[in-house]
Amino acid sequence: MDALSATISRVSEATTERLPKNVSEWAVPAAAATAALIVGLYLVRANKDKDKSPPMVSSWVPWIGSQWALDKDPDAFMKAAQQKFPGGIFGAKTTGRTMYYITDSALINQVYKQPKNFAMSLVQKEWGKNCFSYSDKALFETPALRTEIFPHMRQCMAPVNMMNLVESFERCLSKAIKTFPIPEPGSSVSLHDLILRLAHRATGAAWYGPTFDVESFWDDWQGFDDGVYKVALAYPVPLCPHFVKCRERVIQRFLEYLDDPAHEPCEMIGEMERLGRDVAKLDRRDLGVMIMACYWPLMANVPWGSFWLLVFQLQRSEGIAPILAELDAAGEAWSATQPDPTISYLSNLTAFFQSQPELPLFQSTINEVLRFTSDSYSMRGVVPDEGAVLGGYELKKNDTLIMSTRSVHLDEALFGADAKQFNPRRWLDPLSEEAKGSFRPYGGGVSRHFASYHVKIFLTTLLHTFRFEVDKIKSPGPSPVTISSENRGFGLRRPQGELFVKVTRI
Ligand code: HEM
Repeated sequence: MDALSATISRVSEATTERLPKNVSEWAVPAAAATAALIVGLYLVRANKDKDKSPPMVSSWVPWIGSQWALDKDPDAFMKAAQQKFPGGIFGAKTTGRTMYYITDSALINQVYKQPKNFAMSLVQKEWGKNCFSYSDKALFETPALRTEIFPHMRQCMAPVNMMNLVESFERCLSKAIKTFPIPEPGSSVSLHDLILRLAHRATGAAWYGPTFDVESFWDDWQGFDDGVYKVALAYPVPLCPHFVKCRERVIQRFLEYLDDPAHEPCEMIGEMERLGRDVAKLDRRDLGVMIMACYWPLMANVPWGSFWLLVFQLQRSEGIAPILAELDAAGEAWSATQPDPTISYLSNLTAFFQSQPELPLFQSTINEVLRFTSDSYSMRGVVPDEGAVLGGYELKKNDTLIMSTRSVHLDEALFGADAKQFNPRRWLDPLSEEAKGSFRPYGGGVSRHFASYHVKIFLTTLLHTFRFEVDKIKSPGPSPVTISSENRGFGLRRPQGELFVKVTRI
């Protein structure tokens, strides 16, 4: 013990002797070390420039990176980064990983035109796991999911094949809205609640049949929808426990649905179920995940687009009357061309919209809603082993690119000085070809035509069934609802605040 104490005391004496005793002794080495650090950092950056990686938004917060700044005000973050890096591509670190944001329309176009270099599938696998909880076996050892099942869904949504599904949605919506409960006269309801719930009933019935009890997982669906964009943006799943619980309960409902021998899915879902069971040989849980995951794209944007259109128009002095007048005039003209002209276009919405009626105001308002509220990070991964070049920058294999279509949609150079305001008539005025070509609310995906029918059918049915009046007491002020940063990157942004409305049947 004495020997140990003696050794400790010798070591500490020697250490104390070696420590610099005054400023002049430690200032020179400290300055040298700082200079070496600065030179080192400079060299790292210089090397980065040399290998032509895209520029990076700097952040000194380890691992979190720019996540907080992006969450706080995504539009301000993107604008500042765009101004700093006008080359249309920059990287930012968020929760431990680097994503490259593409904010220039021409570069986005280049990415979509090179599917061999920039593919969707790399990112889809990650979403499959994080957002929907597919097993690794399904994602990495079951090629049929990617080669048979997803292509089947895309094929069913193609314009030549989709009309059965569209008609079924129209029928189920018409049925659901007839019995949909509305508030007692004098009281009001949250518009968001009404629209989402109605869409949930109609979509659930259209895809999974009349016996599927969608009401039983309404709250859990909300919890799933609230969190799914976060995990898509690579928040660690364990940090989203409510999301995980809600997702599990929703999957459970879909598993019970599949176990019921009397379940009656639509043709598309039925065929996906068959392919999942017989071709991909998915286990029971993955089959449930797959059937549940199909539901998400329909619920994710169509009801929200309809919601935003109503929110904006109900708060404008002209309201929705001009849109209704335009629809009715086109509807009358359509009826006059039918074998039985007494049949209203309202009971044949699919056929009516299929005839491509002239509806400039309705279309302009829908476009404007999508331009103004969508924030879809259409993501792509770099495929070739040797990497790829974009906008003069070198990208490495597996780098993740985000097509920031919102940055383009809010670009004043393209959409005018009022690009950051909602103007339902914007698309009635002549817009430059460049602006029109830069409008990509559907990213490079397949959903455009399919979704467009659903939005129009949903809105027309809604506007012809109910009259809405804003409850000024429960929703005071000029703009009780604004666009939040919720759901950034994953479709249409979600609202901040609520619009309460009094509803009467027409
Ligand atoms: C207003 C409505 C909608 C909007 C704004 C919208 C937007 C988008 C966007 C931005 C993407 C990503 C594409 C990309 O990565 O480049 C996407 C993908 C997709 N959407 Fe939609 N969507 C809508 C409605 C729908 C509907 C109703 C369905 C039908 C189920 C659907 C099914 C899909 C599918 C399957 C994909 C996967 C990618 C693909 O195969 O193209 N979407 N959507």
